[in-house]
Amino acid sequence: MMGKSPVRVGIVTLVMAVALMLAPSAWAQSPAPADIQKAVDAAFAKYKDIKEGKNADYIPALAKVNPALFGIAVVTADGKVYSAGDLKTEVSIQSISKVFTAAQVIQEQGLESIANRIGVDATGARFNSIIAIEGVKMVAGAGAPEMNPLVNPGAISATSMVKGATANEVWAKIIGIHNDMAGRPLTVLQDVYKSESDSNQRNQAIGALMLAYGYIKSNWQQAVDLYTRQCSIGVNAKDLATMAGTLAFGGKNPVTGKQVMDATKVPGILAIMATAGLYDASGKWLYRTGLPAKSGVGGGIIAVSPGKFGIAVIAPPLDDAGNSVKAQKAIADISNALGGNPYAAKK
Ligand code: DON
Repeated sequence: MMGKSPVRVGIVTLVMAVALMLAPSAWAQSPAPADIQKAVDAAFAKYKDIKEGKNADYIPALAKVNPALFGIAVVTADGKVYSAGDLKTEVSIQSISKVFTAAQVIQEQGLESIANRIGVDATGARFNSIIAIEGVKMVAGAGAPEMNPLVNPGAISATSMVKGATANEVWAKIIGIHNDMAGRPLTVLQDVYKSESDSNQRNQAIGALMLAYGYIKSNWQQAVDLYTRQCSIGVNAKDLATMAGTLAFGGKNPVTGKQVMDATKVPGILAIMATAGLYDASGKWLYRTGLPAKSGVGGGIIAVSPGKFGIAVIAPPLDDAGNSVKAQKAIADISNALGGNPYAAKK
């Protein structure tokens, strides 16, 4: 066998170095900056004055939020933020937190933990349906994992799965993953937390039922309280877009550079967003955009175009399914303009 010549070794090293330099740009296929800003500006102008939908009011504090609040943010692989409208005002994250608490469970206990205990199926039901719990039980038998961690029964169960000896230990992990995904320390909006704690009897009933059927192993009261707290975390449009961006780029926060969760676990998170992120409207949403997404009754929606961008819109008035009207329209327009649909073949 001939030994490797210094020239050949040099060439191989050079080729490898060039390949490594190119690797991030091969992964980062974000659209061109001018196109992104143009699409964001166009959606903002088109939808800023529409008046459809209504703030959630079953949590009294949410009815008081300014219905005209409208902010759009897109985060790309290089951590750049493209925006229009209000980037600063915080709303409560609400159900969008379900994604990140499920991510915490999956990160610490593996993808099968959620699939085995809760399930990862589309429920086709409203977010706080109690009939769905009974329906699943009748179809599949006691304790069968046919739920989804992004609807209230599954979400409260997911919160109960985060490991910790005390409520504070569990909370530190829940707020910790939200902070890492957003790239800054977030805080609970106390007025929302109090308002929902005073009016969440339905979620308490769900928590108790989930214990009775074995989806929650103990202390459903603690699970419901921590779930209520996670729903009250304050976020602005930039925070939410950065969280979506972290999921878009393999669990690495594109703004801070921190690897928040294992890249191998992110596709599972995106799958539950696709099946149940917009509740009973998830199918229609996926049909029109192809994007894994998650809504919250605070008025936010996040959506993920894997490898391309994370996007978020905050606009409080909701449709009948509990999803922000303007956010759905703006995200669909922007993503379609930027070729964000992961099911579409590259042109
Ligand atoms: O549990 C609830 O009812 C709220 N904390 C969250 C619901 C929610 O955000 C539904 N999303 N569209």
